[in-house]
Amino acid sequence: MCFMYNLLFKFFLIFVVFILFSIQLFSQSKWVRATYRDDPSTTISLGWSGSIGILYYDTIDHGTNYTAYTMSQTVDRSTTHKGTNHYFVRLTNLQPGTIYYFVIESGGTTTMRYKFQTLSDEPDHPISFISGGDSRKDLSVLGIGDPSCWGNGCRQTRRDLNTIIARVRPDFIAFTGDYIRNYDVIFIVDSEDDWEEWFHDFNYTIAADGRVTPMIHSLGNHEDAIDLDRMFDVPNTDIYYATNFGGNLFRLYTLNSETDACTDVIQKNWFINDLQQHNTPSNTPYWKIVQYHQPMVPHAEYSARTDLIDCWSPHFLTYGVRLACESHTHVLKTTYPLKYDAAATSSYNGLVRDDSLGSVFIGDGAWGAPPRPTYAPITDVTQDVERTSGYFHVNVNKSRIQIKSVVPYPDSMVNVPTLTDDEQGTLLPDGVPLWRPANGSECIIIPNYNSMVAIQKIAEQREPSASIAPNPAHNYVSVLFKNALTEAVTIEIYNARGKKCQSHTNVRDQHFKVDVSELCSGVNFINIITEKDVESHKVIIVK
Ligand SMILES: [Fe+2]
Repeated sequence: MCFMYNLLFKFFLIFVVFILFSIQLFSQSKWVRATYRDDPSTTISLGWSGSIGILYYDTIDHGTNYTAYTMSQTVDRSTTHKGTNHYFVRLTNLQPGTIYYFVIESGGTTTMRYKFQTLSDEPDHPISFISGGDSRKDLSVLGIGDPSCWGNGCRQTRRDLNTIIARVRPDFIAFTGDYIRNYDVIFIVDSEDDWEEWFHDFNYTIAADGRVTPMIHSLGNHEDAIDLDRMFDVPNTDIYYATNFGGNLFRLYTLNSETDACTDVIQKNWFINDLQQHNTPSNTPYWKIVQYHQPMVPHAEYSARTDLIDCWSPHFLTYGVRLACESHTHVLKTTYPLKYDAAATSSYNGLVRDDSLGSVFIGDGAWGAPPRPTYAPITDVTQDVERTSGYFHVNVNKSRIQIKSVVPYPDSMVNVPTLTDDEQGTLLPDGVPLWRPANGSECIIIPNYNSMVAIQKIAEQREPSASIAPNPAHNYVSVLFKNALTEAVTIEIYNARGKKCQSHTNVRDQHFKVDVSELCSGVNFINIITEKDVESHKVIIVK
């Protein structure tokens, strides 16, 4: 009898431990993420899933000792979606350019210590972001899609690209839609599992020091607006909005391509009105950038969305949108600068190349989704295209937008460098695996100083420090600085495709002569680079 009591008592203890462990597990907060709903320099929405809790935060790091944090906020919004509870705390009145540390305490457990950085509200500070989308894994069990994804569903690609974010520390992620496959619609497989895996993999973007990378979300065709609303706390359920970064450094338009751009008059009018309101001498951002899911210039599988071209792209030209971030076809592509010209005798659905006024289109959603066979390059449209995975690293300052594409190297992540500082606008460090297509691994967009109403403000605010002569040039061109140089500058020459052709460092001559006899004829750009600025000049080279 005594033996039986002992046995029962041991079973009882094991049962109690199991219950306590389950409660502990259930009460833990997980899947911490951040979304910009408003000004990225003063506000943020911090979200998590699992259990309700209180968010403790401070500009001083108190580790996991939540009682030491001087500020706290209870949950502003809670949702239940895809089988999980989600909680959001919307912080406002934050200090620009400041690191905030935070923990979440719920049910007697405290998370690890996370941190985020508010962005500067000054356009003098560069900003880096990742543009990419289509992070779904493939349905490998049916043997469809890219054979290289069968077995792991390309999930490792997604994880590796997320890990690179933790290491290179962009300021935010501009996600262009299609997070998961949403199997439950077509294949009657539970999308809750798919989202759970997505959030699990998204944890790979969190750096070793707890740094969280905020997101701006676009709607793809494989999720619903309600998904983004309930799981990411996006600004509205229409999924179109605009966000200013760095004060007026750039305005990012997130558009919803899941409706017809011409018949969705409400969205179109909102877009046009907002562009107009941000095109006045006192209220013009240095750059305007758009992101949306389905491409105007697809390079695999799909036809061009001509409604987007007809009803959105003319306004890109009118109001100076110079960069369009697309997704959906699972390849990497960059285009030449393209503008809408309905009267052109030869065009790509109304888009024609214009290296001064056009918008560069990047895409097409290769964040782990199975890469597709590409279309052949389109003359005077396609700059580069390749069937591969990756996303774009975009660095913006007042004088130029620099674009590079990161590709995953699943077996050699150990070689990807890990940054540790909290500088805003960090450039990609050497060693990050880059897409290196034929026309170069870097694309530079510079403002047109003369032609666009939208960017007149740049010319008003800053007088060029130098002039270029002769222009057009033949074998030599001189950079003529107005004043003697007090600090050394770097002079770089790019061709119209954004490929760097020459670089001269430590330049101190007031009149600096450059041999351009080896450069291709046509439009080239001379960039004068100081520690704080890049000044660009267009030069025509004639052979
Ligand atoms: Fe898509």
